[in-house]
Amino acid sequence: MLKHGAVINQLTLEQKASLMSGKTTWETQDIEELVPSMFLSDGPHGLRKQLGESDHLGLNESVPATCFPTAATLANSWDEELVHEVGECLGEEAKANDVQVILGPGLNIKKNPKCGRNFEYYSEDPYLAGKMAAASIRGIQKNGTIASPKHFAANSQEYRRMASDSIVDERAFRELYTTNFEIAIREGKAKSIMSSYNLINGVYANENGSLLRKILRDEWGFDGFVVTDWGGDNDHVAGVKNGSNLAMPGQGKNGPLEIIAAVNNGQLAESTLDERVDELLEIIFQSTATQNKNETIDWDKHHQVAKEAAKRSVVLLKNENVLPLNAQQKIAVIGDFAQEPRYQGAGSSVVNSKKLENTLDCLSDYPLNVTGFAQGYQRDGKMNQDMVGEAVNLAQKNEIVLLYAGLTENFESEGMDRTTLSMPDNQQQLLKELAKTKAKVVVILAAGAAIEMPWVNQADAILHGYLSGEAGASAMLEVICGNYNPSGKLNETYPESYTDVPFGEEFPEQGKYAYYKESLFVGYRYYDTAEKKTLFPFGYGLSYTSFNYQDLQVQSDGIKVTLTNTGDVSGEEVIQMYVGCSQSKLLRPKKELKGFKKVQLEPKESKTVFIPFDDKTFRYYDVKQQKWAIESNTYEVFAGSHCQDIRLKDSIVVNGTNVDEISEVSEHYLNAELSSVTIQEFEQLYGKEIPKDDKKNMTELNRTAVIADLKHAKNPCARGVYHIINSLLKRGQKKGKPDLNLLFIYNMPFRTMAKMTNGLVNMPMVDYILLMVNGHFFRGCYRLIKEYFKNQKRQKVKLV
Ligand code: BGC
Repeated sequence: MLKHGAVINQLTLEQKASLMSGKTTWETQDIEELVPSMFLSDGPHGLRKQLGESDHLGLNESVPATCFPTAATLANSWDEELVHEVGECLGEEAKANDVQVILGPGLNIKKNPKCGRNFEYYSEDPYLAGKMAAASIRGIQKNGTIASPKHFAANSQEYRRMASDSIVDERAFRELYTTNFEIAIREGKAKSIMSSYNLINGVYANENGSLLRKILRDEWGFDGFVVTDWGGDNDHVAGVKNGSNLAMPGQGKNGPLEIIAAVNNGQLAESTLDERVDELLEIIFQSTATQNKNETIDWDKHHQVAKEAAKRSVVLLKNENVLPLNAQQKIAVIGDFAQEPRYQGAGSSVVNSKKLENTLDCLSDYPLNVTGFAQGYQRDGKMNQDMVGEAVNLAQKNEIVLLYAGLTENFESEGMDRTTLSMPDNQQQLLKELAKTKAKVVVILAAGAAIEMPWVNQADAILHGYLSGEAGASAMLEVICGNYNPSGKLNETYPESYTDVPFGEEFPEQGKYAYYKESLFVGYRYYDTAEKKTLFPFGYGLSYTSFNYQDLQVQSDGIKVTLTNTGDVSGEEVIQMYVGCSQSKLLRPKKELKGFKKVQLEPKESKTVFIPFDDKTFRYYDVKQQKWAIESNTYEVFAGSHCQDIRLKDSIVVNGTNVDEISEVSEHYLNAELSSVTIQEFEQLYGKEIPKDDKKNMTELNRTAVIADLKHAKNPCARGVYHIINSLLKRGQKKGKPDLNLLFIYNMPFRTMAKMTNGLVNMPMVDYILLMVNGHFFRGCYRLIKEYFKNQKRQKVKLV
């Protein structure tokens, strides 16, 4: 039964087909007097509404908006209310700008710390990521703006992101890579979701009926619309058939004409098209009915929310009796980030910040005795001995150095993965020299993800602010001077060295297939089970006070713990509940996060806290039965301050179903000895033959080959194009700023030319370009020119 049958009956086939793809880069198609248009905008940590020339990479200017901390930062707060409040502000700014849909939050699982976009994602853990996303969605949608969590699903590397095929076993897929989205959809009630660019086990996410209909709608009760990632529409008809409602950006007349032809030749049932239109109309009508353009924004309030969010997300990683600082200590401020902050990532999430702070300007508002500033290092990574000399001189005259350091812009971005987990060498050199002075060095980090710290012993204290948004500078000063007691806990593991990361040398996968060989052992699930030491474990974060855990009571519906603040200052602690099943007959990590609560306590105050169990606490995905199940067994329940600091432990017997002894998993997997896992063992776990790159056929490029594959092209000119792009990319890298446009093109499949040129190129033209690339230059060129004129004519057809 269609909800909007009365409207749909008045629409022609052409009009219905036109609704399935965008009108422009950001707007959906409107139909006069019947269907209004919706405006969609990035992004997860601040509105990016473009009014002038549009692009989807954050290059062209967008309207000024509050820049909140990025998702990775906010997740360190473990504070759902706070994330909700940020979401609410985002929703308000969208509403005031006549934007109906915010493209976010981003909640992909951080499979590997080198994924260039980890700054935009919440966590390596699906429970934490899902809870944060749900809170953000509830906030965004509170006033009628629509949230579109992304990128659904198993999209954990940037290299070849539009064409890579995530080969992931079903348990890991359900228990990690979709549980995050399940929580976001069920608890956040998102009215939209963005499908990811990649394929999952051979099928594009956007054409995956099992994902978009069976799991998303039937199992989770999703009742919104599915939008493609920008240019992520591979086969438009297959997308619509399998549950995708909207291909973005606009494809000129090409998208609608493909749908019309498919209906006319029986490939797509008109009733299916009607269903997709109906699902989309429901949200278009809801969201446009509640818009109010005259709403004004309280920018000061939003700036305060951004500050509060940044402050509550700061993680204290180390403190050898240095922090907080007092008004008498003589302080040197060193580091370029103190004058020009690194506060947000790069790519589609870039915000044109309304009111950007920097540390130097904020200092006078705090009781800190700062005697001077030195830049210390060059942003472009080049060594500058004069700057180091000047910084050391200044340090020598002071008791404390506040060193503002971290990753510069070219270290992490959408569109490229990181090549190293290290901080720039010139900053490490500077720290080494500063550590030789008598001054105590407090390192204040800005980076959107985990970094290696071989220098950890040279710092007396380390505060990590992540990418803290426009008010990050003052937020950090609140912590430094002790106005606020840090309460952030890491959303991800910090390995001692990248060599400890499972399958690290294979990331990002260079070929077509991205093998998710870690299976269930992502992040702390691996380090914990393999008993591998880390630099900072998942959930870790210090405080200026200390907490005592007492009286764990495991009840049938949850746990109770009594927490006492045993120090002299008020503070907040995140109690983390982990569950394990050491007697399990299944492949399982030692323990997994299943609940948490942030608790505020005055000195000497105690509170008894209840953390409930829910449907996710004991479940696993039964692949044979194709459903969730609970193994009858005894489960260990842990309460702790981070995953390696378990303070209390008890157990509970849970009745479910009996599980047969497993035979399909190798000992290496069972013991989490991932460095010994072979591709055959992964294949056994995966349950069927895994696809492999056809190395012999590399020179014959097809629609799904990416521009980077031009390296293997038969046509020498095409290979030349590859080398030009490659050297331009390297040049950008050297300059200290990645070229996002080029990065996008580099990882872009050929078919995307027909999806992102607003009708200028169509699919036959892509095929003729490929003919040229594959060594038939003149034949391809002739056909391309002929098709170009045909396509131009086709674009003039009137459809709506
Ligand atoms: C990104 C999305 C973003 C979209 C629109 C894509 O390249 O992957 O996260 O929402 O562009 O800017």
